[in-house]
Amino acid sequence: MAEQIETLLKTSTVYRPTEKTLSEAYIKDYETAYKESIADPEKFWDGIAKELEWFSPWNQVLEWKYPWAKWFLGGKCNISYNCLDRHVNSWRKNKVAVIWVGEKGEERIFTYAELSRQVNRCANALKSIGLKKGDVVTIYLPKIPEQIIAMLACARIGVIHSVIYSGFSAPALESRIKDANAKMIITADCGYDRGKSIDLKKVVDEAVSKSPSIEKMVVVRREKPGNTLKENEIDWEEWMEGQSTNCEAEQLDSETPLYFLYTSGTTGKPKGVVHVHGGYMVGTYITTKYIFDLKDEDVYFCVADPGWVTGHSYIVYGPLLNGATVLTAEGKPDYPNPGRWWDLISKYGVSIFYTTPTAIRLLMKYGEDWPGKYDLSSLRVLGSVGEPINPEAWEWFHRVTGGDKPIMDTWWQTETGSILVSPLPCVPLKPGSATRPFLGIEADVVDKEGNSIGTGGGFAVIKKPWPSMMRTIHKDPDRYLGYWNNIPNCYTAGDVCHKDEDGYFWFMGRADDVVKVAGNRIGTAEVESALVSHDAVVEAAVIGKPHKTAGEMIKAFVILKQGQTESSELIKNLKAHVQTELGKIAVPREIDIVTSLPKTRSGKIMRRVLKAKELGQDPGDISTLEE
Ligand code: PRX
Repeated sequence: MAEQIETLLKTSTVYRPTEKTLSEAYIKDYETAYKESIADPEKFWDGIAKELEWFSPWNQVLEWKYPWAKWFLGGKCNISYNCLDRHVNSWRKNKVAVIWVGEKGEERIFTYAELSRQVNRCANALKSIGLKKGDVVTIYLPKIPEQIIAMLACARIGVIHSVIYSGFSAPALESRIKDANAKMIITADCGYDRGKSIDLKKVVDEAVSKSPSIEKMVVVRREKPGNTLKENEIDWEEWMEGQSTNCEAEQLDSETPLYFLYTSGTTGKPKGVVHVHGGYMVGTYITTKYIFDLKDEDVYFCVADPGWVTGHSYIVYGPLLNGATVLTAEGKPDYPNPGRWWDLISKYGVSIFYTTPTAIRLLMKYGEDWPGKYDLSSLRVLGSVGEPINPEAWEWFHRVTGGDKPIMDTWWQTETGSILVSPLPCVPLKPGSATRPFLGIEADVVDKEGNSIGTGGGFAVIKKPWPSMMRTIHKDPDRYLGYWNNIPNCYTAGDVCHKDEDGYFWFMGRADDVVKVAGNRIGTAEVESALVSHDAVVEAAVIGKPHKTAGEMIKAFVILKQGQTESSELIKNLKAHVQTELGKIAVPREIDIVTSLPKTRSGKIMRRVLKAKELGQDPGDISTLEE
């Protein structure tokens, strides 16, 4: 990997901003803006927070009791109010807020006024069944507008939302409902995947039957006639019907929890990352504005699913805080054909397009003729997220979109809430590098002791608190402390990174046992425990392995119980079992049956030895290896 980076650094072309890009950009001189912002970060964030509306002002910007942070103390706000009312009370009232395109080509358009009416009705509907501030609602929906409406409605009345990606299976959903102690769940009868209807209600029924905390279920019924509902199950339309379009937003303390979002770590148990109204609002607002240079005239298209953090921060909150027009589309980039996204860009005049390296590599496979068929001249700023983007994919994306649009390679995490390392359109770009820290963010690359490495490879860290940082891990503060106790005096992201002589960051992947499959974060321990829960398996070890399109793929090594024999049928069963336990995204692409696994003397599986062997690399220090 280090060698690869060295070559990259030597061969890297630098793309300077065009005059047009520079003349349009909010920030024209990154160096000066950055220096000013970190000379006094509290002053910087104080100024940004004042661009939003607060019911009452804060009396202290930051309280920092390592590693616990509180931002905008004493301030009262509501992120939903800032996403909606702030615009409805302005000329943006009739501006388009959300354009949604379904997999079947259906279109639904919401102006700020209409979105606000729906959200207000939904907030009243939540109240009508007894939901109140501090309660938790699980949202398990496909990518439909109700997902956005439900999130903003919860936020409006101080209810905490826990959105679960609708590809997760029943046991995965159940464990997340239980951890959050959710009182109700909002779901749909089905989602669509490449024209096929996926029965979501069945998954929810199974999870809810084992989750006593759930008192009510609301179902969006997309297929008519809808399936029959049981007691305590309500149809979305009926639930919303007759509700007033006026629901006063709760005036919340800035540190009030906004949402839990479950993500994978190094143990089998997913962590519920906690974000709060005030700081998260400030972070997502300003990063969306400066990084994508978002203006009122733009049409902004982010391909993420609100089930993941990118959807939370850069489909829902960040863009709506800015009063943007957001395009969101259900379905895959190559269905019904590989022109799908290019077609949407040309049809809606998209000017900002935020996507993922995996999707770009998938579209690359279909060739340049596809983007070539469409008028992409509306594009202005591009974005990439979720995993390192390889220079070939970067260059391809750059070329097929006209060769003169800046690509914002945005590095961040569920835990960071908003983008922390990324170019701004005025920053010279090197394909494959996320370039420099965002304003107000002190990021660095350090060794294990926390010493800055200057140039070279090490661990990515953040040295000072920032407003949108997670506040804790729900019910597990020790896990939160882990992020700040790993390397002295900083937040350890868990990424290996190289810093070059220009101070550019080159993120190289995870330093821990987390695999990034198509940008989705999967803990190897979760897959291992799913495999071990199969009757035929006694032990399992899981690693990530490079994959041409997905970036990484999951490979499992499995020891069978005595009496079990290897067969292709068994491998198929094991894969199906992981799909049932966790969902399709966590299924290992390859499973090897083995008779032993490399372990330390204390019995810990040494995954890095397995990985080195698999990739034909040097395993490094193996002095702790037992056999
Ligand atoms: O390894 C980094 C990778 O994704 C991780 C965070 O994953 P998650 O919490 O699921 O959030 C994904 C969306 C922000 C990071 O620790 N990652 C994210 N963006 C990049 C990246 N790696 C390299 N370059 C990026 N731009």
